[in-house]
Amino acid sequence: EQAGKGEYDHFMLKEIHEQPTALAQAIEGRIDPTNGRIALEDFPPGTFDGVENVQLIACGTSYHAALYGSLALNQAGIRATALLANEYSVTAPPVDDDTLVIAVSQSGETADTLSALRQATAAGADTLTVTNVVGSTAAREADETLFIRAGPEIGVAATKTFSSQAVMLTLLAQRIAADSRGEPPADLQSLLPDLAQMPSQLEDLLATDDAAHIARQYQGSQSYFFIGRGLGYPVALEGALKFKEITYEHAEGFASGELKHGPLALVTPDTPVFAVFTGEEDEKTLKNAEEAQTRGAPVIAVCPEGHRAVEVADEHLEIPDTDDELAGLLANVQLQLVSYHAAELLDRPIDKPRNLAKSVTVE
Ligand code: AGP
Repeated sequence: EQAGKGEYDHFMLKEIHEQPTALAQAIEGRIDPTNGRIALEDFPPGTFDGVENVQLIACGTSYHAALYGSLALNQAGIRATALLANEYSVTAPPVDDDTLVIAVSQSGETADTLSALRQATAAGADTLTVTNVVGSTAAREADETLFIRAGPEIGVAATKTFSSQAVMLTLLAQRIAADSRGEPPADLQSLLPDLAQMPSQLEDLLATDDAAHIARQYQGSQSYFFIGRGLGYPVALEGALKFKEITYEHAEGFASGELKHGPLALVTPDTPVFAVFTGEEDEKTLKNAEEAQTRGAPVIAVCPEGHRAVEVADEHLEIPDTDDELAGLLANVQLQLVSYHAAELLDRPIDKPRNLAKSVTVE
């Protein structure tokens, strides 16, 4: 097992550091270099003709990626909703001929997700799986499959597969919009070059040790809060899930604007607030963070250098400048590192947290 970890103490850290390669593999050959268009040759032209409505079903970290994907679809002009697969049997919205149901699952074996996928199939929806595992049950059962090509993920805490799922869903959103409406949205001219430089930006980010410093500084706090808006919201949820999963400390993620509707009552000088800035109404998110700061909470801004939040926050974790659609994914990597280092300080069994399994095969 040690041999498989290479130079790293844990698979989780190794897999965090594999993200530049994983992303490069995910996008390789899937963007046409002659015209900068998304090719996604996994699907013949017109595969998504007539898709008006998308439901994304998933659990845990994959649900956060699905939420990210649903927002990317909405921004591309397609109606989309992310739904917890374990709630689908009691809350599924109706499906019709124009509905595509996308199951998002690293393993392709999660019982809750398979059950929701089968329900959608029985209801007559077209289905697609976004997964990491070739030959998995979800890949075999869905009409179409998009492999994220992240390579094996051993750590129970999903890291590189979240990033690859979110990137592939962002590309898929553009492809669905293009098939459904005839033309992709114009803002691809910013997204695609920034996507191409994401692996090297991640290399730079992974070479810093700011996250380890933050983990040390706020060690022993009562609770850890994560806030974000728009695409920063699934990142806040994911930051909190990762933190609680491997540190066993209390952590919660909130939509920034929700803080004042209740959670602010929990905020004290002993509850650091990580605020994720993704370029979507950042001024509002900053105001929400300041509301926590006024109650004594230390605020850690996750944002590009030169952002106004750097002056206001107590600390910051830097992310490289990029397209708004990708900023949250860079922020998420900083948060993965904070969780990892916090768990390491507590000497937790990082790759195998208590009570959890890599793939949950019971409902
Ligand atoms: C996250 O770190 C967990 N391992 C968990 O939430 C996981 O994402 C969830 O169980 C879904 O697994 P899947 O992607 O294999 O379907």
